[in-house]
Amino acid sequence: MFALSFCVLLTSIWAVPAARWSAFCPARCQCNDAELTVNCADAGFEVVPLTLNPMVKQITIPRNIIANVDSAFGVYAHLEALDVSFNLVSKLGSRGLELRELRRLDLSHNSITIVERDAFEGLESLTHLTLKRNSISELPSNVFTPLHNLKVLDLSQNKISTIGAGSFHGLTSLERLVLRSNSLRHVPSDSFVYLPNLRSLDLGSNVLSMVDEAAFDHLKHLEELSMDQCALSVVHLEAFSGVAGLKKLYLQNNNLLVFPRAIASLSELDELNIGGNLIPKISVNDLRHLKKLKKLHLTRSENLERIEEDVFRHTPELEELWMEFNMQLEHLPASLLNHLRQLRKVSLRGNKLKYIHPALLPIEQLESFDVSGNPLVCNCSLSWLWQHMANRPHQYHNSSAVRCNGPSHLESDFLKSLSDGQLECRGESGRGILAVMLTSVFVFCLVGMILFLAWRRRITDARVGTIIKDLDSSPVNYASYDNHKYPYIIQPYTTLGRPISGQAFAPNAMLDPSSYTTLSPNALQSYLMSLNSVARPIVEPTSNRAYQTLSCNSRPNSGTSSSTSTTTDPGYETIDRQHQQQQQQAYQSLIYV
Ligand SMILES: *[C@@H]1O[C@H](CO)[C@@H](O)[C@H](O)[C@H]1NC(C)=O
Ligand SMILES: *[C@@H]1O[C@H](CO)[C@@H](O)[C@H](O)[C@H]1NC(C)=O
Repeated sequence: MFALSFCVLLTSIWAVPAARWSAFCPARCQCNDAELTVNCADAGFEVVPLTLNPMVKQITIPRNIIANVDSAFGVYAHLEALDVSFNLVSKLGSRGLELRELRRLDLSHNSITIVERDAFEGLESLTHLTLKRNSISELPSNVFTPLHNLKVLDLSQNKISTIGAGSFHGLTSLERLVLRSNSLRHVPSDSFVYLPNLRSLDLGSNVLSMVDEAAFDHLKHLEELSMDQCALSVVHLEAFSGVAGLKKLYLQNNNLLVFPRAIASLSELDELNIGGNLIPKISVNDLRHLKKLKKLHLTRSENLERIEEDVFRHTPELEELWMEFNMQLEHLPASLLNHLRQLRKVSLRGNKLKYIHPALLPIEQLESFDVSGNPLVCNCSLSWLWQHMANRPHQYHNSSAVRCNGPSHLESDFLKSLSDGQLECRGESGRGILAVMLTSVFVFCLVGMILFLAWRRRITDARVGTIIKDLDSSPVNYASYDNHKYPYIIQPYTTLGRPISGQAFAPNAMLDPSSYTTLSPNALQSYLMSLNSVARPIVEPTSNRAYQTLSCNSRPNSGTSSSTSTTTDPGYETIDRQHQQQQQQAYQSLIYV
């Protein structure tokens, strides 16, 4: 291996004039001496060439077969950017890369399993470090301590299952941490204490399953959080309590069964993705405090059936709504998007909508909308959409993909290629008129019948007198009611003269029996209430019959009001003759309910 490189070196020396030794460039590299950059991509190198310009600032050497970087770049002390991605590096040894001016280091797509405790010693200028797609399973405590200028650390696609409390010690400048696609089983909250400036945290594609209370409390400046594909089923109510400034939250493709209440506290949120969960319903309180929300993704929620009418009432800034491929979503309230003055893009692609109400989409203000892939029934009700697509071909509405799924003779036809006649507007409206006419006739007959029955009832009410007599002679204490004092005694009573609970009848000795009318208890009660505000119903269970009685104020034999029972009844006093006349007139005008 070394012999080979030596040969390459010798050949190169021979080929290049001695004067250019200091800027010698291997044959398979491109070197730019003005900018001090070297690119040796796909050069097949096993080792780092040692003959480059020692002043070089940037070495890009991806897709080679370099297995060892320890001390390999020591001669290039002025390196600022180093890309060794897609090589065979398996270990980051002790002080292997002491490059004090290095800002960017890319070691992604290698086979690193071991990172020694002081592997990053001397890299104090480093701002970007990517270790993506290696096989790191453990991060020694304090391993990043020298990197106090590091802003971005990418550890995605490794095998990290736990992160020790001290692993991120010293990363005081870190703004973005990517831990996506590891094997984390819980949010490493303890280690976040060293990341006071973190703005963006990506924990996606781990197996977190739950987020605890105050999980992110140390990350006071966090603005973006991804926890998609984490098998999350539980998000603690206080999970986001410490990150009130969060602007972007990605929770898609988890196992959430309900909309997490914790989201409600995020009043700065401008983008939320909660698609791909098992949430059946979005209700108005779910988005209640998200007054700055601009983008909402609700795609591939297989259980999503219902979106409450007022859901967006508190999100006036919404600009984009992505609600696609929800296999249970058959209906959207027509007023769902009312008041969203900033709305620009709406995609309702691939849901199960058969019909789209013309009031649903504020199409005049939209830059684009997409209703393709729904099982639309192309009838008269959709002619507004058909017309719109014809009139506004320049607005993006993916109309060339909007097909009909019914009626059967139009199945699979494109909506925009139908003719006006095919939408059957005339036929539909003719049928509509017919339906209205039939309904009117039906209603007319019904009213007639009711009036007829009411009339008949008045006739059968002639039996009332008998029933009153029955009551008078029966063993119940009706007899003790002074009919003059308590004129509104009501007997549950049917038109056929049988007492029945739930029906009410208002015999009153002071009234002309011909004016008797049967009433429902509620109607009678509210009528009497209107005559005298102290009137109230009393249920009097005596013998086997339930007497529903209504007195003016108090009952003579009631335990609770016995003090007023035998003396003059103030309730009655308030009902004078005039009232009774009113009552009489009103009874006559009452309709059976
Ligand atoms: C338009 O709709 C079709 C079918 O629903 C889909 O395949 C296509 O991606 C859509 N176009 C865009 C740009 O979304
Ligand atoms: C058109 O079809 C939709 C969906 O089946 C239905 O709700 C609507 O009433 C129909 N409109 C007319 C005018 O028949």
